[in-house]
Amino acid sequence: MKKRILVTGGTGFIGSETVIALIENGYEPVIVDNLCNSKEAVVGRIETITGVRPIFHPVDCCDKAAFRKVFEEEKDLYGVIHFAGLKAVGESVSKPIEYYSNNLVSTLNLLDLMREFDVRNIIFSSSATVYGVPERVPLKETDPVQSATNPYGETKVMIERILEDTHKAWKDLNVVLLRYFNPIGAHPSGLLGEDPNGIPNNLLPYVSQVAIGKLKFLSVYGDDYPTPDGTGIRDYIHVCDLAEGHVAAIRKLADNPGVVVYNLGTGKGTSVLEIVHAFEEANGVKIPYQIEARRAGDVAENYANCDKAFEELGWKARRNVLDACKDAYRFQKMNPNGIQ
Ligand code: NAD
Ligand code: UFG
Repeated sequence: MKKRILVTGGTGFIGSETVIALIENGYEPVIVDNLCNSKEAVVGRIETITGVRPIFHPVDCCDKAAFRKVFEEEKDLYGVIHFAGLKAVGESVSKPIEYYSNNLVSTLNLLDLMREFDVRNIIFSSSATVYGVPERVPLKETDPVQSATNPYGETKVMIERILEDTHKAWKDLNVVLLRYFNPIGAHPSGLLGEDPNGIPNNLLPYVSQVAIGKLKFLSVYGDDYPTPDGTGIRDYIHVCDLAEGHVAAIRKLADNPGVVVYNLGTGKGTSVLEIVHAFEEANGVKIPYQIEARRAGDVAENYANCDKAFEELGWKARRNVLDACKDAYRFQKMNPNGIQ
């Protein structure tokens, strides 16, 4: 029998790509998403890509009664991948109550229902943000977790702690904390990708919208960082590699690992200007940009040491930023107004 995996936030950017990877690797995903930041059309696109229409429940994880019905209906769940959450750093500063409430209540409801229905495996979407301002790079899983500078990041720190504490009281619960670095790119079909509302906050969606002429130019936030070209350095990981990392994490659950944590990145840092040039090279387009002041809260350099994921999960990123830039542009051209 196929292992059944509940995927909260499964119509979102990373969740939808992971649902595809799950189907392609012989699992049966069950999606729960309230569509607050994604479209139901994603379900049909997953079907077009894989030939399988995943089960979809349009349910808010904060609505415990509705969420319980999903657990009652969907028997024999092997585990949960918990993507559901609000994720915009800037918005979280102006809407702290919404962020703490959505991200924490959804997780607490989920854990309580997992206990009630005896579902013993959870993989959680954490973030490099839990490392705060890094003292050194590359970041290792053993580096200290620090209080975040914004409510979004703080929910990740808090949820990691909640999951660890829950394991202490419920030893049968396995917890895999996956700390993502900067997910970019799109499905190579061009059918699925990052579809932000309004003006994008993140670099790649912004560059893609400049490339199709929807936005005039890119603002490069600072060229006076202590990096070789002065612009900020991040670890950009193709979303398809990230999705495969989740499949590797599910396989790990068979060992009953308790609480384990992995960085998912490429291990390589890329500057903002290197991204601009990679996008131009990959797609034969020009990306006009202007240097502007640093963005508040940004760090100079942030990239991962991913040896642990390779040694213990047998996973590493296979795609590079050129692949990601090609895929992101294809998605942007095919969906100039997002997924409809
Ligand atoms: P996304 O917004 O595309 O996906 C999140 C999904 O969760 C959306 O489809 C949204 O509708 C859904 N959702 C939100 N609250 C919900 C609720 N209460 N009940 C049900 N569904 C709900 O974001 P993403 O980029 O795919 O991120 C997925 C996860 O990975 C998030 O937890 C995010 O914080 C984390 N993460 C993302 C990044 C990144 O840069 N994209 C980096 C690190 C961590
Ligand atoms: N940048 C620009 N111009 C833009 C957008 C971004 O120059 O229009 C620069 C930023 O200054 C930074 C780099 O591009 O140097 C990447 O910025 P992103 O906003 O794409 O990504 P961040 O690294 O700031 O944020 C990501 C996730 C957050 C997470 C954070 C820390 O989006 O969810 O990493 O892990 F909290």
